[in-house]
Amino acid sequence: MKNIIYNKSKFIILEGLDGSGKTHACQLIKKILEKYKIPHIVIREPGGTPLAEKIRNLIKNFYTYEIINQKTILLLVYASRMQLIQNIIAPALKNNIWVISDRYELSSFAYQGGGFKIKKELIIFLKKIIVKSYLPDLTIYLDIIPKYALHRMIKRGKLDTIENNNINFFQRTRNTYLHLISKNKNSLTINANLKIDIVHQDIKNKLKKWLRTCKIYGTRG
Ligand code: TYD
Repeated sequence: MKNIIYNKSKFIILEGLDGSGKTHACQLIKKILEKYKIPHIVIREPGGTPLAEKIRNLIKNFYTYEIINQKTILLLVYASRMQLIQNIIAPALKNNIWVISDRYELSSFAYQGGGFKIKKELIIFLKKIIVKSYLPDLTIYLDIIPKYALHRMIKRGKLDTIENNNINFFQRTRNTYLHLISKNKNSLTINANLKIDIVHQDIKNKLKKWLRTCKIYGTRG
């Protein structure tokens, strides 16, 4: 077998509603990269650094009588993202280490923009000053209908602050995902309504096909 040389580290994102199966899909992608001997790290958003994990906890488990302005949550999400880019993503990509992330900024457009109806201009502004050129090479979107997603969330146990929203919220979030994914040529859509082994086979096939488009063959070293 020829050695495989990847000319540049890649940044791969998993996206989808809560309950769409992203976390298992990340593990599957990790296994595939291991098989190809591609150095990589797996991270999640919000979170991924000690400070960002504290922000994650605040966002997911904040039960209070205080009225929460969703723009505050948006700013917290971007604060977490800033830490993650600066301390983890940028150094990894610079050192030829691939990055797989369970969510990234498409989640902000879908959840804060679509679900919570924050104007997209504000999110685009934050993206310009924080994300800059750290854009994904590939986004794998796991599409699931909100009814199934909610069913899986409830089966998993206690709902967190965001999961606690109603089906209309998840419908708006999904619609935004679908709209943005349809305009994103660096993306793959997976039907996540199906059984897990069918979903995983689809991810494997599509990812392997994509990997073939970004590698060059030769002798290592
Ligand atoms: P999630 O990734 O689904 O983790 P778990 O499987 O442990 O529940 O949880 C992250 C939550 O954060 C999810 O409800 C979506 C939300 N979120 C946003 O609202 N905006 C964002 O930009 C990001 C990255 C996440």
